[in-house]
Amino acid sequence: MTYARIAGIGSFLPEKVVTNQDLETTMDTSDEWIRERTGIKRRHIAVDGETTSSMGLIAARRAMDSAGVGPDDIDLIVLGTATPDKIFPATACIIQRQLGVKGCPAFDVHAACSGFLYGLDLANRFIRTNGARTALVIGSETLSRITDWQDRGTAVLFGDGAGAVVLEASDEPGILATHIHADGEYEELLQVEQGVSVGFDVTRAGGAYIKMEGNAVFRRAVATFDNIARETVADLDGHLDDIDWFVPHQANMRIIKAAAKKLNMPMDRVVATVDEHANTSGASIPLALDVAIGDGPIQRRQTLLLAAFGAGFTWCSAMLRYGERASEPK
Ligand code: COA
Repeated sequence: MTYARIAGIGSFLPEKVVTNQDLETTMDTSDEWIRERTGIKRRHIAVDGETTSSMGLIAARRAMDSAGVGPDDIDLIVLGTATPDKIFPATACIIQRQLGVKGCPAFDVHAACSGFLYGLDLANRFIRTNGARTALVIGSETLSRITDWQDRGTAVLFGDGAGAVVLEASDEPGILATHIHADGEYEELLQVEQGVSVGFDVTRAGGAYIKMEGNAVFRRAVATFDNIARETVADLDGHLDDIDWFVPHQANMRIIKAAAKKLNMPMDRVVATVDEHANTSGASIPLALDVAIGDGPIQRRQTLLLAAFGAGFTWCSAMLRYGERASEPK
């Protein structure tokens, strides 16, 4: 039986940091409100010239270095992003070219904040069916470019960044189970209304920016994390106590805490980086994972539950056993 395991991980954050205090100077908000309602203290923002591909490229190179693989080893590239560089080609192809990888499939997955885990699910299936042996799965976002910086209801929530993992074929299970879902019923609750097919109208205020029914999204996110965690564990005939680390999508500390509480998961087993990164959509889980694996508390052989939720709505999970320490040579 062929399994997939994480062999390397890397991430990248833009140098520019925007703190809550910085936002206080440009909109009617306060550090206290943002911290209390979201847990966010600061976010990294891409400057001119920093793009989804440029950030994803650096994260990918770091993941490849940590796995000890080169361009010739990569036989699949999947990028989860809602903020591609161009309408086409896929940003995964742009990264592929810059990495010097030739010929393997490279494509973007558009599942909003669930993009990285959707990509991980796909790459896992490729590897398990012998369609690939070494896959690069990236999440990279420049959400600041679709954020309305006049709208305090959304502007305080988002940030930019990228994370990536190298998945390798293995005789031992790394990824134990994945589950992916969507329900288009909730289209209007979290969206950017304009686009290629419906058209761009620069005269319509806010149309090209993220719009959200914050309260409804909040409630749905908490319920969904609970459901998908239980579904994943039940599918493995396991128990929630089997999970050493819960690594949820980093949208809001209150969502993370409420989900953890429903799952009876103490916060010292939950990875939370939303205070430093804000919501980086498809990049949030690999960014959080890199922090928690790099100098953080995650140890080899521990069991992780990754779970994401985003516009669509889309939601997904991956239960995995973290194997070799990514920072050590294989
Ligand atoms: N600063 C100060 N006040 C703000 C504010 C800000 N940045 N944003 C909103 N407010 C105000 C509102 O105008 C409202 O004022 P009012 O009572 O005078 O009308 C008040 O704060 C409460 O607003 P509300 O929207 O009810 O707050 P909330 O507790 O629901 O928090 C969110 C708002 C957006 C933080 C919260 O709903 C949330 O996190 N939702 C999920 C968002 C998310 O994670 N989306 C991505 C999922 S992938």
